[in-house]
Amino acid sequence: MSAFETIIYEKQDGTAFITLNRPQALNAYSIKMRDELYEVLGAIRDDPEVLVVILKGAGEKAFCAGADLTEFLTAPAPVIARQARFERDIWGLFLSIEKPFIAAMHGYVLGSGLEIALCCDIRLASADAQFGLPEPGLGIIPAAGGSQTLPRVIGRAAALDMLLSGRWLTAPEALKLKLVNRVFPRADLLPEAIKMAEKIKSHPPLAMSYVKQAVTRGLDMTLEEGLALEKRLSGALLSS
Ligand code: COA
Repeated sequence: MSAFETIIYEKQDGTAFITLNRPQALNAYSIKMRDELYEVLGAIRDDPEVLVVILKGAGEKAFCAGADLTEFLTAPAPVIARQARFERDIWGLFLSIEKPFIAAMHGYVLGSGLEIALCCDIRLASADAQFGLPEPGLGIIPAAGGSQTLPRVIGRAAALDMLLSGRWLTAPEALKLKLVNRVFPRADLLPEAIKMAEKIKSHPPLAMSYVKQAVTRGLDMTLEEGLALEKRLSGALLSS
C-alpha cells in the first residue's frame, strides 16, 4: 500500500495495481498525478517482485477524463515547461518498462487517459467505456504520445478519423478497431483483468518480458532489424 494523493499503488502476488484515484474529477490527469505515476513506474521497473501491472480508474464514471482542465492552459509558463519535460519522461519511462501492462478501462477514457492506455500492452474495457481524444477540439494536439501510439494501434485512417472529427468511440466500436482487446460487462472488468494477469504470471517472466520487447520494439524497426532482434532475444533466453 502507498500514501499517494492521486493514485493508489498496491502489490499482490506479483501483480501491481495502479488506481488513478481522483474520482471527484473523473480521475483527470494532474501534475501531481504525473509526478506520482512517475515515481510508481520507476518502482515497478526496479522491483523484481512485480511481474505484471494492472492500471484502472477509481469511482463509477471514468478511467480518466484526460488532462486536468483546471491546470490546463492556465498554468504559468514555467509550469508548462516543467510539464512538457515530465510528460516526455513519463511516457518514455512507461514505454521502456519490460513488464506487461494491462489497462482495465470503464466509463470515460479521454485524452491522456486514452494515451496512458495506449502505453499498455493489453487493453480491456467495460461495455460502458467511451474513448476520445478531445485535444484538437481544444486547439492543441495530443502531447502524451497519442498522435504516434494511436495510429500504431488502430491504423492511420482510423486514428485521423478520431483526431480530426473529435468523434468518441463506444466500446463495441473500439473493439472493432482493435483499440481494445476485449469488452466485458462492468462487473466483470476487474476480475477479467486479474484473470489475464494470472495467466501472464503462470508463464516464465523472462519469456513474457522478451516477447513484449520483441513485439513492441520490433514494430518500430524494419522487418530485417526486427528479425535480428528476435534472434538476439531468443538466443539470450535459451542461454539464460
Ligand atoms: N479536468 C478537471 N476536472 C474534470 C475533468 C478534467 N479533464 N473532467 C471532468 N472534470 C470534473 C468536472 O469539472 C466535474 O467537477 P465538479 O463536480 O466539481 O463540477 C466532475 O469532474 C464531474 O464531471 P462532469 O462534467 O460533471 O461529468 P459529466 O458526466 O457531466 O461529463 C465529461 C463528463 C467527461 C463529458 C465532461 O466532464 C468533460 O467533457 N470533461 C472534459 C474532458 C476533456 O476535455 N478532457 C481533456 C482532454 S485534453
